[in-house]
Amino acid sequence: MLVTGGSGYLGGWVSRLAAAGWDVTATYSSTAVAEPGIKWRQLDVRDPEAVAHRFAEVKPQVVVHTAALNPGQGNDFEAVNVAGTANVARAAADTRLIHISTDMVFDGQSGSYVEEDSPAPLNEYGRTKALAETAVTEAGGDSLIIRTSLIYGWRPTVARAAQWMIDALDRGDSVRLWSDEMRCPIWVETLATAIVELADTDVSGFLHVGGDQVMSRYDFGVALLRFHGVDPSSVVAVPSPTDQLRPLNCTLDSSQARTMLATPLLGVDAVLGGNR
Ligand SMILES: NC(=O)c1ccc[n+]([C@@H]2O[C@H](COP(=O)([O-])OP(=O)(O)OC[C@H]3O[C@@H](n4cnc5c(N)ncnc54)[C@H](OP(=O)(O)O)[C@@H]3O)[C@@H](O)[C@H]2O)c1
Repeated sequence: MLVTGGSGYLGGWVSRLAAAGWDVTATYSSTAVAEPGIKWRQLDVRDPEAVAHRFAEVKPQVVVHTAALNPGQGNDFEAVNVAGTANVARAAADTRLIHISTDMVFDGQSGSYVEEDSPAPLNEYGRTKALAETAVTEAGGDSLIIRTSLIYGWRPTVARAAQWMIDALDRGDSVRLWSDEMRCPIWVETLATAIVELADTDVSGFLHVGGDQVMSRYDFGVALLRFHGVDPSSVVAVPSPTDQLRPLNCTLDSSQARTMLATPLLGVDAVLGGNR
């Protein structure tokens, strides 16, 4: 298995979990990693020759393409998310490719999106991730495009999505969370386990893989703070800012995934247990 973005949050978990059954090569771009049990290689997906070289070297049976720029990570979305994915998809023309996409390809007007719904992205991140999906489809290989939702987990002990809130509250700053933006947050280990499970199948096309529980950004933030033993009473619920072109209801209908996966798509309450 070749995992692009192995130095990232999701790619790291996919690499670690897959290493139990696969010979895994994982790539990093700027953050060198040296975890045992995995072969690490540098790769910038923007460089088509470098991508072709890595494929020729590794000769993967399956590729999990997690490398991407997320919102807030600079402005090279077109080159990394679109051209980079096209480079990977072309190189994977004869290899099973699992591409990781996002609920933010939708406009958030209706929610409960199914696999057949058409992307209508509102912002640059969503637009480039939607174009990346097209690049994968047009490459014509054996591909599975997984659309997922907000990913959370411990890094290493505090949820990535909670750290900034804990820091702000520690400084005495106010924390304002959007009460009208609905998502299906998914625990990173759940998603990585589902991806590893799907790597060993011939499931192709699109698949929505979100957590079982619909939550607003506000409720999700409050749940994470409580889980980490932080009093959320000063957190303020506010509407999502209209000037940021944020889709409001990006909830995913993951019923197809639930019927085919042995991995349970745990909702936030099930993951956080009695600590919520
Ligand atoms: N995070 C979420 O809530 C969320 C929600 C829905 C979908 N997704 C999708 O899930 C996937 C993984 O997200 P994540 O949160 O795990 O991301 P992440 O932690 O930010 O990791 C991104 C990875 O991409 C690599 N990368 C960045 N630019 C690259 C380039 N030019 N060439 C090669 N690799 C490059 C990074 O490498 P270095 O760090 O070494 O530079 C890193 O390994 C992405 O496709 C994202 O769109 C994420």
